[in-house]
Amino acid sequence: MTDRVEIVEVGPRDGLQNETRLIPLAEKIALVDLLGTAGFRRIEVASFVSPRWVPQMADSAQVLAGIARAPGVSYMALVPNLRGLERALAAGAGEGAIFVSASEGFSRANLNCSIDESFDRLAPVAAEARAAGLPLRGYVSCVTDCPYDGPVAPAAVAAVVARLRALGVYEVSLGETTGRGLPERVGQMLAAVTSEVPAAALAGHFHDTSGRALENVAVALEQGLRVFDAAVGGLGGCPYAPGAKGNVATERLLGWLTGQGIETGLDADVVARAAAMAQSMRHAPA
Ligand code: HMG
Ligand code: MG
Repeated sequence: MTDRVEIVEVGPRDGLQNETRLIPLAEKIALVDLLGTAGFRRIEVASFVSPRWVPQMADSAQVLAGIARAPGVSYMALVPNLRGLERALAAGAGEGAIFVSASEGFSRANLNCSIDESFDRLAPVAAEARAAGLPLRGYVSCVTDCPYDGPVAPAAVAAVVARLRALGVYEVSLGETTGRGLPERVGQMLAAVTSEVPAAALAGHFHDTSGRALENVAVALEQGLRVFDAAVGGLGGCPYAPGAKGNVATERLLGWLTGQGIETGLDADVVARAAAMAQSMRHAPA
């Protein structure tokens, strides 16, 4: 077992994108600024997708303009296409995140195109990001189950991870989008993926719909993964994954890892305050 894990905070993006209340800009900035003092090395704060598709993220450039940039923290932004990349570069994102699906149904619902078409769209994005010196992370959605197509074959996930790596992403985050994936199936998927890609180039991204996210993290730790995405307050879900709940809560993951004797470099008090802030944002009146 390791004694060190990195938690990547995705609450301000994967969390807030799904909130029905339109969160005021100042609240988003306050959350990111508090998170910036917690010890995270990477915080996903923005999404340069179509504002027609995800209105909650329409003010992403203002978020990046308004936050205090903590030294040593990379502020990440989701990028779906060239237009998104241009917006992310103009806003000064520290890195971009491109995203694809291991299932055709979710690709259609989330990106309005097939898996092959999504890679055609992303090839020039990867080339331009490289030319601009912007590091790119990759996400694969639906690594065990798809809300539209049902169970997803581990080999299909491994194939998509390999294609993302060929685009030059430095890390692939494996999205258990529905949050219903059983640990046994997560283990089978990871065995297929790690037979082709080193575990050091992978991250686990577990939603917690069925309350199994921590068990899935444990399985991933056994398979050698050392980076996990989480959202303070357990915020989130995906607008195109009906019924899927939030990411594993950062404070729960942190508490569990600490209990296992695993270091994260995070300040638990700051994380707890950020979790309370995130929860109050969720419940504040519109
Ligand atoms: P489309 O409708 O097929 O394409 O959307 P389009 O090119 O016709 O664009 C539609 C409209 O959006 C047009 O505007 C474009 O100009 C505009 P209109 O003419 O209608 O006024 N547009 C943009 N505007 C601003 N920035 C852009 C941009 N691109 C187009 N970058 C598209 C295709 C990819 C844009 C759309 O499907 C989209 O935005 N999808 C993103 C959906 C999304 O954000 N989902 C949630 C994030 S993924 C996730 O949460 C999963 C993850 O957490 C991992 C996991 O848990 O699985 C990462
Ligand atoms: Mg997600």
